Amino acid sequence: MLPRLKAEYSPDYVVINGENARNGSGLTPAIMKEFLEAGVDGVTLGDHAYRDQRILTHLEQADQPVARPANLSSNAIGKSCLRLRSTEQNHPELHVMTVLGRVYLPFPANDPFECVDRYLEQVGSLGGIILIEAHMEATSEKIALAHHLDGRVAAVVGTHTHVPTADARILPSGTAFITDVGMCGPYDSVIGRNKEAVLKHMTTSLHVPYDMAEGDVRLCGAVIDVDDSTLLSTSITRIEYSMDPD
Ligand SMILES: [Fe+2]
Ligand SMILES: [Fe+2]
Repeated sequence: MLPRLKAEYSPDYVVINGENARNGSGLTPAIMKEFLEAGVDGVTLGDHAYRDQRILTHLEQADQPVARPANLSSNAIGKSCLRLRSTEQNHPELHVMTVLGRVYLPFPANDPFECVDRYLEQVGSLGGIILIEAHMEATSEKIALAHHLDGRVAAVVGTHTHVPTADARILPSGTAFITDVGMCGPYDSVIGRNKEAVLKHMTTSLHVPYDMAEGDVRLCGAVIDVDDSTLLSTSITRIEYSMDPD
């Protein structure tokens, strides 16, 4: 569905979260290659960053546009930020950083607010567009981070809950925000997993492997317009495409 999105919006950069691409959890070099061939410019990860260790070498390579969440230990493997350059001349670079939440997320992480603040102090004068991914469970934590960064980054985009929210907006000082862009994957499911398996587990407490579901595949995301001079946003549009003909 990416060619359709590109035809409709001609984005300068396409960034996706790929942490669930390997049968629901983790990312592999082969899937990373598929993403790049499909026209993706940058790939982020989340709490499932290290589920498939085959991606570790890619995470360390400067020329592979894939990053781990930033607010982990400084010993954690991988780049903590992506810097993407457009092929178009004079377009600003895009900096992408993912931070994990600390509310209802059982993956230990450092303070996401402080992490982004430190980064902004470092890059202050670099002049790139800054996209922060709020990979968090709690809507409150994502909204709080967005207000904390309003006017200092181009966009704060929420991920992790897989359910698109209806609150895409430009905050008062020019930062685009959406609580969750939603999932690219099968919506006839429980956040991507086979619904029968999840229901069996939830109704009987038995341990059941959660395989990926298949039906009603959609691409969900957001298209954000950034002003090249202010590096802040002028619009954010939620996208939802279906594989089935309209
Ligand atoms: Fe996640
Ligand atoms: Fe996820």
